[in-house]
Amino acid sequence: MVSRVRTVAFQGIEAVPVDVQVMIAPGKAGMQIVGLPDKAVAESRERVQAALHASGLSMPAKKVTVNLAPADLPKEGSHYDLPIALCLMAGLGAIPGDALGDYVVLGELSLDGTIAPVAGALPAAIGANALGKGLICPHGSGPEAAWAGPEFDILAPRSLIAVANHFRGTQVLSRPEASIHAPARDLPDLADIKGQESAKRALEVAAAGGHNLLMVGPPGSGKSMLAQRLPSILPPLAPRELLEVSMVASIAGELAGGKLTDRRPFRAPHHSASMAAMVGGGLRIRPGEVSLAHHGVLFLDEFPEFSPAVLDSLRQPLEAGECMIARANHRVTYPARIQLVAAMNPCRCGMAGEPGYRCARGPRCLSDYQARISGPLLDRIDLRIEVPAVSAVDLIRPAKSETSATVALRVARARSIQRERYERLGCASTTNAHCATALVEEIASPDAAGMSLLRDASEKMGFSARAYHRVLKVARTLADLDGVETVGRIHLAEAISYRMSGERLAQQAA
Ligand SMILES: Nc1ncnc2c1ncn2[C@@H]1O[C@H](COP(=O)(O)OP(=O)(O)OP(=O)(O)O)[C@@H](O)[C@H]1O
Ligand SMILES: [Mg+2]
Repeated sequence: MVSRVRTVAFQGIEAVPVDVQVMIAPGKAGMQIVGLPDKAVAESRERVQAALHASGLSMPAKKVTVNLAPADLPKEGSHYDLPIALCLMAGLGAIPGDALGDYVVLGELSLDGTIAPVAGALPAAIGANALGKGLICPHGSGPEAAWAGPEFDILAPRSLIAVANHFRGTQVLSRPEASIHAPARDLPDLADIKGQESAKRALEVAAAGGHNLLMVGPPGSGKSMLAQRLPSILPPLAPRELLEVSMVASIAGELAGGKLTDRRPFRAPHHSASMAAMVGGGLRIRPGEVSLAHHGVLFLDEFPEFSPAVLDSLRQPLEAGECMIARANHRVTYPARIQLVAAMNPCRCGMAGEPGYRCARGPRCLSDYQARISGPLLDRIDLRIEVPAVSAVDLIRPAKSETSATVALRVARARSIQRERYERLGCASTTNAHCATALVEEIASPDAAGMSLLRDASEKMGFSARAYHRVLKVARTLADLDGVETVGRIHLAEAISYRMSGERLAQQAA
């Protein structure tokens, strides 16, 4: 007789149903797993046998065949242990077989029969809920799964024996509680930064419209400090965004304690990051830093020190808002709608362009360093600013600067104007930076004076089509920050100046 249990395989952040079928038949004693298992799944045989033995159940002296259907879908990971073990227990009569029909099961087994937490409990729970089924998952993954719904049926046992006891009615498992991180009050504040008013303004514009930002300046001018204060002025995640961000974190196994947070992700990978770490992939495909920064910020400090191939791999996700990893036998897509913030020194010695300083290596110091960033990648960065060294006067006699809370209020107002606009237009994006190109000219059409400025600037500086549209998007954000409907000359002038600063550096380097 064949017993069946339902589990899932992960494709991107989606959970695809997989059927575990176990047949115990007369024949040579042994257990075999078929259905495209990877190494971790194939090893499940040893863990399952040991865990059953530790729980007081011995394997029958018969031929046991485990099939994971559909057979042509690759199965990766260790979460197939528990469904296989429960299916076997049902086959052996240790638990009633029909009781398992209402659940989707996932979990990893230890040799002593305890159940270890696994990645992906949240997407599995959401998938199970959509099918109208409950979920059996490890105790440690319970709080995360509980987010799938208040009425959703979850069993989060600590061991195989606890599952058996629950179904026999001798020890009923209670439902795990969904938990949330306490709101953060420990974020560094913009008020710590003295001077640098124009850099702070650019940071506010970037936060308001979700624009990509590049900061160039000499060592110690406060670039890293500025970037670290961006989370304190960004608005919290909307409920739908929160769910997507948490699903990616769950698949990557990074939801600590199953607690969700409405704080936007801020990922700052080191410049030694590999391609797989950045865009995802690896032996067992998992989301990379771009996907973990979904709906948040990817901060690349010391921008030119990243390998050029890794930097260029960001071009596709920056444009498409998702990241596709293709393998010989399958393809996986993770969401990656990010705001890129980068910081760099103008040259290797770091001081090019500073008054009274001459690079020892001459102009090549500047050009070689900047050539590490490709033109197309730079073209995707809307705001480029120079962050000069702070003067001693600024440091000694600080003017009272604005706190993050004040700036965050203005950012939130500009964001809500954008959200309402895109809802009205029935558009999926919620920020100007991610607004569809076809819509840009409609929503950000400038007045006559603005138009003539834009025309002159585009001709003089040879804007690409992308640059033209991006300048319009930044101008739209500036108008939103001012709370006005029409994009005026003043907005375009500021938007163009953010692009020019990058061009000036490129010309210096040439
Ligand atoms: N505007 C500022 N106000 C107050 N302190 C500042 C400011 N700028 C820099 N500092 C001080 O200088 C230190 C270094 O700043 P930071 O690390 O941000 O520089 P950086 O521009 O990232 O330099 P590098 O190019 O070397 O990475 C800060 O920790 C802070 O103590
Ligand atoms: Mg730095």
